Amino acid sequence: MTDAERRAALDAIGAEVAVCTRCRLSQTRTKAVPGEGTEATEVVFVGEGPGFNEDRQGRPFVGQAGTLLTELLGSVGWTRDEVFITNVVKCRPPENRDPEPDEIAACAPFLTRQLAALDPALVVTLGRFSMARFNPGARIGQVHGTYRAADPESGAPGALTYAMYHPAAALHQGSLKATLFRDMEGVPTALLDARKMRAERPDEAPPSEPAASEPTVAEPAPAVADASAPMAKPTEPAAAIPGQPDGQNAESDQTDQLGLF
Ligand code: URA
Repeated sequence: MTDAERRAALDAIGAEVAVCTRCRLSQTRTKAVPGEGTEATEVVFVGEGPGFNEDRQGRPFVGQAGTLLTELLGSVGWTRDEVFITNVVKCRPPENRDPEPDEIAACAPFLTRQLAALDPALVVTLGRFSMARFNPGARIGQVHGTYRAADPESGAPGALTYAMYHPAAALHQGSLKATLFRDMEGVPTALLDARKMRAERPDEAPPSEPAASEPTVAEPAPAVADASAPMAKPTEPAAAIPGQPDGQNAESDQTDQLGLF
């Protein structure tokens, strides 16, 4: 797919999301929030669902949690413009409650189609609802800061998925902020491994044109490559990709119990 085709696909999905009435969240939303970012990226961040500010503006992660996400990206030399940011559900759950299973199911095809258009190398999940889609059965207290192959059913069969706490979690529990920044340090390394994995795919035909992701990734790429060498990795990739997390970043499972995370 060319970048223009990716953009067209994302715009078409966005137009459908804007008028979607597939679930009850459409009745209480102000604006649907399809997601935003560049079509020419290797990295997609997936949050839970829009909050108050996102619902007003129709853009993802523009409130306090969004400010923290922007800082997290900046900590590895990336900007929002270089990635794609979206959510599991595209409309705000009233009072920021957790999305219900039927709401998640109704919205799932939009994320699947976004992923098909973007074909990301790496999906960074923010919080447990997002993690559950790409890494079902995992516990965030155990897997945050680690990565593995994404569940093929997620819509991103060729991707690695990297689990992080939701930025909003750190707004409620300050100690998680340091955890988030530490985990973010591992994201560029995960991207490098995702690239390697995709280059080694037996069915990977050589691109017939410059890889769609290259122009934009060329911006973060040097930073990724530079950052990877001296970086203290939160995870040993060899252990983290196919297998279970080794638990070196495990925090109390109590954090699994807190709704936001
Ligand atoms: N929290 C999310 O999960 N997504 C947003 O877009 C904003 C806050």
